Amino acid sequence: MTFSPRPVPPNGARDLSRYPNVYDAAFSWDRTQEARTFLRVASVRLGRSPRSAVELGCGSGPLARLWASWGIESYGLDRSASAIRRARDLSHGTVPADHWLQGDLRKFRLPRRVELAVVPLDSLGYLVTTDSLVEFFHDAWKSLAAGGILAVDVTLHPIRGPPLPIRNEWKVTLRPVGSARVRWRSVGRPWGSPRRRWEVGRVDVNVPGQRSQVFWETKPHLAISGDTLRSLVNRVGGFEEMWVYSDAAHRAESHRIRRLASLGGVRGPRLICWQRQ
Ligand SMILES: C[S@@+](CC[C@H](N)C(=O)[O-])C[C@H]1O[C@@H](n2cnc3c(N)ncnc32)[C@H](O)[C@@H]1O
Repeated sequence: MTFSPRPVPPNGARDLSRYPNVYDAAFSWDRTQEARTFLRVASVRLGRSPRSAVELGCGSGPLARLWASWGIESYGLDRSASAIRRARDLSHGTVPADHWLQGDLRKFRLPRRVELAVVPLDSLGYLVTTDSLVEFFHDAWKSLAAGGILAVDVTLHPIRGPPLPIRNEWKVTLRPVGSARVRWRSVGRPWGSPRRRWEVGRVDVNVPGQRSQVFWETKPHLAISGDTLRSLVNRVGGFEEMWVYSDAAHRAESHRIRRLASLGGVRGPRLICWQRQ
């Protein structure tokens, strides 16, 4: 049962999830630092650089494409057929076509085990029930080689009181002309256990001489605390201790992130990782 009504799309809005090219334009910043950060935290636990990696919830596969260009055997998995098609087109042979897999984070299998599995940009939050999270951690465990690393960028919320509000807004320039205004925000009251709430993404595309277009999506998004996530994964089993970092891999600034000594009160966007036993 939901206690917060589903947000209504603006008139004439198109479904953003069906336009991976618009999504890519909205998130078109340089992802190199983020891709390197995931490799670096994996290397610390593995004792060497990972030789294979998968981007889970890959969209058009920005991280998997970068890893492949650095010589890592790379895979991507997403439930959207159009995103997987675009990933294949954009990787121009640097990633073999059959390394892009259409599948669901709640039930997936890779052609072979990898040394690093990454869920970037808060995408773990699309899994909003305990069952779907448990299924995900089971299948992530099965996808990893012994000692392999699972790393996620996720926003951690306070265990009690209202979840942190999500309010992100930025503008991108389009080529050859035009601009897009991107807004991502949480809406309404949370519900359920673990808590979840509506998250709305909106992209307004303006190209001179054309009518402006609105792309929009809303999905329930997980609002979990670090303690709840840690105990859930401990219950699933098969992983070493959860490590939490001082920031997310996708941070805007170029500072190095460090492992935190304790989880006490940690909230906000964080990189978290586990090592498969
Ligand atoms: C925030 S986007 C991230 C895309 C890309 N990894 C990036 O970093 O730009 C989240 C992606 O997760 C995918 N996704 C959401 N729920 C999923 C699920 N249950 N199984 C597989 N993919 C899912 C969406 O289709 C979308 O492409």
